[in-house]
Amino acid sequence: MDFVVDSLVDPAHVPFVHNRFFRQKRVAKPKEKEFTRLPLGFRTVSEHTQLPNTFVFRIFGAGAKEATTSVDFFLPGIHLETLQVGQRFGSIMLIATPLTSEITRLDITVGWNFLQWSAPFSKVLVRLTARTTLGQDRAILELQEQGNRQTSTMNVGLEMDTLAVWYRRLKKYYLNQQAGLSNLEHPVPERTTLRWVT
Ligand SMILES: [Fe+2]
Repeated sequence: MDFVVDSLVDPAHVPFVHNRFFRQKRVAKPKEKEFTRLPLGFRTVSEHTQLPNTFVFRIFGAGAKEATTSVDFFLPGIHLETLQVGQRFGSIMLIATPLTSEITRLDITVGWNFLQWSAPFSKVLVRLTARTTLGQDRAILELQEQGNRQTSTMNVGLEMDTLAVWYRRLKKYYLNQQAGLSNLEHPVPERTTLRWVT
């Protein structure tokens, strides 16, 4: 479950693992975003942002237009992303659910309010994109699992690992809340700016 959530909250893998889908490795550059606290998670919102020039975003007719995007993560393992360009709106929800201590189920829901006339075609395209990109994540998760068998310690010391660290602290915070402890400090700062390459 933790590995699946790591991949949901990790913004830095996108141009490398999903090259040419959501971002391009070739033009990856440093970026910074402000994150705010949610009751059991965190959020980032970007206004007037330029979308990457990949086929996924070209469908939004993005090109020169500016977009508003938001990404939320909250416990137990929910990633919710929205994208708005003019009147066009899209959203992706990913939900990780542990089935056993070893197996985690990942559900994906995608919504959009345009291309109604070509709905059967766009559904096929969305399904293919979801299947391919989740397969790319799965390949990395399987490697991570192999690595974890050799050494169970994890290095989460980089700035781009902050979200994975917050996730681990949020779990403890929630368990302490459930145990009735008081004066708990929320593990996510009210506002933080994080930098990474994407
Ligand atoms: Fe991914």
